[in-house]
Amino acid sequence: MKIVVTVVGFVLIFLTGYWLYRVGQPFNAGMLTLHKLISVAAIVYLVVIVLNINKMAPLSKGELIACIITGLLLLGAVVTGGVLSAAKNLPAVVQTLHKVLSILTVLSTVAMFLFSRRR
Ligand code: HEM
Repeated sequence: MKIVVTVVGFVLIFLTGYWLYRVGQPFNAGMLTLHKLISVAAIVYLVVIVLNINKMAPLSKGELIACIITGLLLLGAVVTGGVLSAAKNLPAVVQTLHKVLSILTVLSTVAMFLFSRRR
């Protein structure tokens, strides 16, 4: 169930993100809000999952490292997303960074679930 909700969340984030990218600036306010809201909801959901897992039994070193890496990647995606939505005429690298960080976040989240699959 946790995996299904997480997958649906990421699919919605990527769909709304791709839509924003295709339409370009000025971004549609509704779609941008939806993209941000789903992102924040997914982050809160992942934090709650990690806290619950940690309550059952403290996180192993591998799990902790996977959580920290995922958290940092998510933070990077949020920061680059914030910059993209707030400024115009940015260097293309910001766009690329947002995309790369998003993909790495998904991979890192998969790793996080794999690390904790025996719980
Ligand atoms: C809450 C903060 C976020 C904001 C303000 C934000 C904002 C944006 C904006 C403005 C775009 C359009 C970029 C463009 O025109 O190139 C975009 C695209 C995108 N976003 Fe976000 N985003 C946020 C969080 C995230 C997160 C957490 C993820 C995934 C983990 C994500 C994944 C994507 C993807 C995959 C695209 C499409 C990129 C492309 O196809 O080039 N975003 N986002």
